[in-house]
Amino acid sequence: MDAGNHSPVSRFIFEPLSDIHTIKIILFLLVLTLYFLTIMGNIFIIFSSLTNPALQSPMYFFLRNLSFLEIGYTSTIIPKMLFNFLSEDTSISFIGCATQMYFFGSLGIAECCLLAAMAYDRYVAICRPLHYSAIMNRTICLQISTVCWLSGVLVVLVPATIIFTLPFCGPNRIKHFFCDLPPLLRLACADIYKSEVIIYTVTVVFIMLPFLLILVSYVHILHAVLKMSSTTHRSKAFSTCSSHITVVTLFYGSAVLTYLRPTSANSWETDEVLSFFYTVVCPMLNPLIYSLRNKEMKDSLKKLMFKKNIL
Ligand SMILES: *[C@@H]1O[C@H](CO)[C@@H](O)[C@H](O)[C@H]1NC(C)=O
Repeated sequence: MDAGNHSPVSRFIFEPLSDIHTIKIILFLLVLTLYFLTIMGNIFIIFSSLTNPALQSPMYFFLRNLSFLEIGYTSTIIPKMLFNFLSEDTSISFIGCATQMYFFGSLGIAECCLLAAMAYDRYVAICRPLHYSAIMNRTICLQISTVCWLSGVLVVLVPATIIFTLPFCGPNRIKHFFCDLPPLLRLACADIYKSEVIIYTVTVVFIMLPFLLILVSYVHILHAVLKMSSTTHRSKAFSTCSSHITVVTLFYGSAVLTYLRPTSANSWETDEVLSFFYTVVCPMLNPLIYSLRNKEMKDSLKKLMFKKNIL
């Protein structure tokens, strides 16, 4: 297409998920409930990991950081999505769209990195228990999480710059509920092949690098666990990892399916369901998974409820 013949796009319009009013209201209430649970659950994790003396290990430091991140991650997308369910005007400005993509992307990359840090933490705890407190000291934990946040903020500059210097000359309807890479790329009116290659290289590297780290950590963990002679040790070691494995599987499963396929292979309905999963459902499940499978967290929740006389 020839970009010169069209006026540049200044606003994008989110294609409504449905035109039927009742369905919109149901979706609105569903997403609002999930969002509310996400915020409450993650605040609970931050609060209890700060106040409960039993939750002062590096694992909970990273978990707290992950919860903090997920509040931000969901808040870049869900409020606008909720608004779109109720409003006739589902448009977003070019700058708004760029901002949303940038924050969502950087928090997503930071999340991948934090999940890798948590896997490394489990690796040290299980495979090198005697050196655990020396290796995972407070300074190291702070440094690791800082690196995660920084890498998210910096890495996403590359795809964001590329995509928002591409010409957009219409159509401007985004078949998605937020400004994400694949649906936006499809709207550019230029040959996107080169941009696609660069963008996918960057995202693949920064999604797959943490994933490889997680995999390597778990290979070592599995090896160590299988060598343990006592069954109680074995199940205890495994139970401290199970929450993390579940969270990683859910998050990476849906993210990899969305981003690591070529753009042309994605049907937008599939994209939408997968994206809904890692943007709305996963951040809500994480606190649940950690709270229900973890004795210290459960105790903490009980204490909180008794104190507030909810039970
Ligand atoms: C998460 O880590 C960053 C970087 O180390 C830090 O600035 C931030 O306060 C941490 N957040 C929480 C809630 O612990």
